[in-house]
Amino acid sequence: MSANKEMHFSSSRTSLRFGSLLFLMTVMLMVAMCDASSGEVIELDLSCSCLHGRFHSNTFQNIPFLSSLDLSYNDLYGQIPSSIGKLSNLTSVNLSCNHLFGQITSSIGTLSNLTSLRLSSNRFSGQIPSSIGNLTYLTSLSLFNNQFSGQIPSSITKLSRLEYLNLGYNNFDGEIPSSLGSLKHWRYAFWGEAVLMAPFAVLGFLMKPLQLKVGGNEIAVSIETYKSSYKNAVSKSCTQFGKDMIVLCKEKVFVVNVLGYVSYNFVIGAYSYWGPKAGYNIYKMKNADIICGIIGTLSGGLILDRVTATIPNAFKLLSGATFLGAIFCFTAFTLKSLYGFIALFALGELLVFATQAPVNYVCLHCVEPSLRPLSMAISTVAIHIFGDVPSSPLVGIVQDHINSWRKTALILTSVLFLAAAIWFIGIFINSVDRFNGEESESEKQRRQEQSIVTP
Ligand SMILES: *[C@@H]1O[C@H](CO)[C@@H](O)[C@H](O)[C@H]1NC(C)=O
Ligand SMILES: *[C@@H]1O[C@H](CO)[C@@H](O)[C@H](O)[C@H]1NC(C)=O
Ligand SMILES: *[C@@H]1O[C@H](CO)[C@@H](O)[C@H](O)[C@H]1NC(C)=O
Ligand SMILES: *[C@@H]1O[C@H](CO)[C@@H](O)[C@H](O)[C@H]1NC(C)=O
Repeated sequence: MSANKEMHFSSSRTSLRFGSLLFLMTVMLMVAMCDASSGEVIELDLSCSCLHGRFHSNTFQNIPFLSSLDLSYNDLYGQIPSSIGKLSNLTSVNLSCNHLFGQITSSIGTLSNLTSLRLSSNRFSGQIPSSIGNLTYLTSLSLFNNQFSGQIPSSITKLSRLEYLNLGYNNFDGEIPSSLGSLKHWRYAFWGEAVLMAPFAVLGFLMKPLQLKVGGNEIAVSIETYKSSYKNAVSKSCTQFGKDMIVLCKEKVFVVNVLGYVSYNFVIGAYSYWGPKAGYNIYKMKNADIICGIIGTLSGGLILDRVTATIPNAFKLLSGATFLGAIFCFTAFTLKSLYGFIALFALGELLVFATQAPVNYVCLHCVEPSLRPLSMAISTVAIHIFGDVPSSPLVGIVQDHINSWRKTALILTSVLFLAAAIWFIGIFINSVDRFNGEESESEKQRRQEQSIVTP
């Protein structure tokens, strides 16, 4: 069994400084996970185990299936043998806080599955091998506090998944590769997005009084109003805006539609932000494609054209498609096989994206023509402010806590069921299609008020 192997590894390759008691403690401390079927050591955690000794050239030959190696906080010295390059399944290496020295072997570049490499607080020297650029799955690289020198290889900019990079306390010279600056943690991306969104949110509110004036004489009316008294006009449009908002908020169809859309966009925003990363993490895939989205959007419009386009029908389509889509996406994330996932998720996305056309249909048809710009503006602002803007960081926080992309994706996907449920309610609300509607009473009243104001 592998236990023999581990003991063999620790006793013969490293000499223990403090006698048999410490040795026993070491064995107790060491946590090695074995692959149940093959009995091979796949994870070796001997951190903080008072190991004293050096690697031999054949140290890594007995553990070819190793995927995680943690020997941090020990008293190891000497060089890392180039045979480490044979551990092709390695995903995580932590050798920090030892007394290792010498150059980093360029065979490290063959460990292409590596996601984390920590060599900090040793005495490594020489250049970082440019083969480090082969480790394209690397998310964390720490070479802090060593004696590395020379130039930082430009190949380091190929490490596009890097989230953590620490090269401090070394003797590098030359320039820092310019595209290194483009590596940003997702939190910065979020703040950037929030700041970028702010003007649109403000615009969404300010645009409204201007957009409302559709016909020619109405523009004249507004210009007159602005001329006669700017203050009056501002307060007028503010109260008008307030009134319009109240009308909108009382329109149950509109509110239900926007609420559903917000939860929908919450999921879609986080999918598009985290999708590639989660997809890579769960299924080791390279890229998620957007083609399904485009086809789905088109098909949604086509379906809506076929069924009689009424608001309840649009809601039926919205809740039906979202519900089915959510089931497909949810099931997709529970699957182990990549191809099963792609097939189901593509179907799910297709259904989910089919909602774009009906959601806009409801938004435009549930209000009077004059309120249409406002209803579109409010719904657009709402789905961003309450939907995709907070969802990406929230999902990031959830993932930080439960540390499993699969579970995070499942939790996120279940929000789609909420969207489907909200839209389902919409089917039963009494709705009036006001798209081509004559002016209602309130609209007439407003016009009269306006003509009174105009001198
Ligand atoms: C890597 O692990 C897989 C199973 O996860 C195994 O089939 C494969 O043989 C391993 N490769 C090496 C070189 O150990
Ligand atoms: C990466 O790991 C997978 C198994 O998880 C294995 O099949 C593959 O050979 C590894 N890649 C390399 C370059 O060794
Ligand atoms: C070693 O690094 C891994 C990540 O590469 C980390 O999870 C682990 O906690 C580290 N070990 C110690 C003792 O800090
Ligand atoms: C880097 O990867 C390329 C192709 O994947 C391979 O030909 C090359 O030998 C690798 N370099 C090192 C140093 O592993």
